[in-house]
Amino acid sequence: MAINVLERRALLGAVVFVAVSLALISYATWGLGINVPTCIPLGSKPFEEASVTKHDGKNYEVHFVTRMWAFEPNVLRVPTGSTLDIYAVTKDVTHGLEIAGTNVNLMVVPGAVANGRVHFSKPGIYTIVCHEYCGKGHQTMSARIEVSDLITDYSVEGLPSSEGMKILDAKGCLACHTVNGNAGVGPTFKGAWGSTVHLADGSTRTLDSAFFVEKVHNPTALSVSGYPPVMPPIPLTDDEIKQIEAYLEGLQN
Ligand code: CUA
Repeated sequence: MAINVLERRALLGAVVFVAVSLALISYATWGLGINVPTCIPLGSKPFEEASVTKHDGKNYEVHFVTRMWAFEPNVLRVPTGSTLDIYAVTKDVTHGLEIAGTNVNLMVVPGAVANGRVHFSKPGIYTIVCHEYCGKGHQTMSARIEVSDLITDYSVEGLPSSEGMKILDAKGCLACHTVNGNAGVGPTFKGAWGSTVHLADGSTRTLDSAFFVEKVHNPTALSVSGYPPVMPPIPLTDDEIKQIEAYLEGLQN
């Protein structure tokens, strides 16, 4: 059966369109070096902790962990001319990882590793924002990469390097309390140790070891003013409490 002349034009148009699209994508990839963000299965690149690894020259591999409502690492400083291979996972819901002013704009979905590459040819402070609505603290979820000629090697803040941080994570505390000063369902842990706590009943306490132990065992009786009384009692061993206290003590501004 003969093909109608209009059908033939439509087919030809489709073939040309696909060919031009493929040519442009190829040009962007190899000609302009634009790296298309990808998603790789968790099993082939598993990691649970944030880290920064220096490869040869100014090439770094950065493993981001995203969670409500923070990025780990929180601050990363690298020399001008660095290339970062970025991998990101989420500990809870879907987050976004956009590095403003670059072509990195990743969706970090549970069960997969988001991947992208960025090259910093100019110095500056590049803000990382979450562009995916992820709950109450979404708008506070940010981090930054500082790129400078004055930096010779990388440095980093906000890696969960201590045992105390790992316990907080395992017990679910970080779902409500951030460690970077941002607001959450509950007060941030940053700078909290040793500070004065205003309770809902109008009294004040100092956040020390005695208060901390009372609070984790009987949270609602010691609700903090301005926050909903929703914290459940947290079963912690004496050793775990010591580890957390040591971590919180070091978590000053
Ligand atoms: Cu994470 Cu919005």
